Amino acid sequence: METIKHINRSTSDSLFETAKTYFPGGVNSPVRAFKSVDGSPIFMKKGDGCHLWDEDGNKFIDFNCSWGPLILGHNHPKVYNKIVSALQSGASFGAPTVLENELAELILSRNPFIDKIRFVSSGTEAVMSALRLARGYTGKNKVLKFDGCYHGHVDSMMVKAGSGLATLGTSSSSGVPEAYAAETFVLPLNDLDALKKCFETYSDDLACAIIEPIPANNGLLLQETTFLEELRELCTANNVLLFFDEVISGFRVGFNGASGMLGITPDIITYGKILGGGLPVGAYGARKEIMACVSPDGAVYQAGTLSGNPVAMAAGIAQLTECAAEGFYEDQEERTNYFVTQINDHAKKRGYDFELVSVASIFWLSFDGKKRIRKADQINPDMNGFRKIFAELLDRGVYLGPSGYEVGFISQAHTKEHLDTAAQAFRDSLDAIFA
Ligand SMILES: Cc1ncc(COP(=O)(O)O)c(C=O)c1O
Repeated sequence: METIKHINRSTSDSLFETAKTYFPGGVNSPVRAFKSVDGSPIFMKKGDGCHLWDEDGNKFIDFNCSWGPLILGHNHPKVYNKIVSALQSGASFGAPTVLENELAELILSRNPFIDKIRFVSSGTEAVMSALRLARGYTGKNKVLKFDGCYHGHVDSMMVKAGSGLATLGTSSSSGVPEAYAAETFVLPLNDLDALKKCFETYSDDLACAIIEPIPANNGLLLQETTFLEELRELCTANNVLLFFDEVISGFRVGFNGASGMLGITPDIITYGKILGGGLPVGAYGARKEIMACVSPDGAVYQAGTLSGNPVAMAAGIAQLTECAAEGFYEDQEERTNYFVTQINDHAKKRGYDFELVSVASIFWLSFDGKKRIRKADQINPDMNGFRKIFAELLDRGVYLGPSGYEVGFISQAHTKEHLDTAAQAFRDSLDAIFA
């Protein structure tokens, strides 16, 4: 086993000390705080292709890809040029631009599931707006979510399964009134019996069932397709809208996301991340008659000062144009399998309790052996294995999202040579932690 030298993090450490005086926990989004791994956050300075450089001059192969948006890698020339050219005409007008039409056309002309779309500025905003739309369209108030799926920090989604009336939610964040949480039912994923019981009892009150069709916020809880198909049928039979939150899976597992991959038609879809090419964009879309309820056509109010921002639209157009090219997703998946297989073969040969679970260009580090995990409560809460491999990988120049519940992403910029280098770092790190 190779001996490694810990990377120098002194500049990052000192920047974090300063940041703590400005921001709660020193960060502007909690998972960046490195609470579940050792040390303080690494302050990044530059990204190019599949690489990141930090303020101490360390270079990493980046598998976080800004939590998913950067499917072309950092600083892709086409995205960069389109952003710069939009910016030369002004950063924001608060009036319609042709760029909004172009991004909508790029999506809607290829997407058989939605007729109209509304651009917003984040995934959270998309989910919040689309939940309001589901309630406005159906005239019903309750929503159903699944334990282990994350839908942004919308009040009614900051909810966990309660005791007693098993399906009624209780607030999972201070500041969310229990009265809001009580509007949300929470069920385990992949549990048909619980699903059927919930629909039998509550469907008259249910506006929608929201799910990440490829749940990727608590590990990778790949669902049985039959579970999603049954959910579709129950929704149709009971006038409940099926809401696919494709903020991660949209434009990631295929241009038309999980809906396209699985061949299941939801009623409402939310997008984010990849859609904005690295700038803040979210969106929700649905059939014409549902979208007709959105203001100014309909009575469901929703607005945004920077919605459809021209610079963000430009980034989205450039990125999605590349994603729409023939063979883009096949190539992504082929390189992902190439990477994952090298590491899994090594772990298997050495008998390590470790597997990279993957779908398309998403992967997750599972320390639960070969068990297929489909429900949030099946994940081993001991994240010690992840904490150790995270540190080993950092020292070997590989950067992951700093939590064992997060997935990794492969971008177009990760060539086989980069993946070989990273796979070697994984093998050495596994040898080090299982030694
Ligand atoms: C499935 C899903 N929905 C919604 C969100 C919220 O998106 P944002 O962080 O852009 O608000 C996320 C963020 O990770 C997500 O993964």
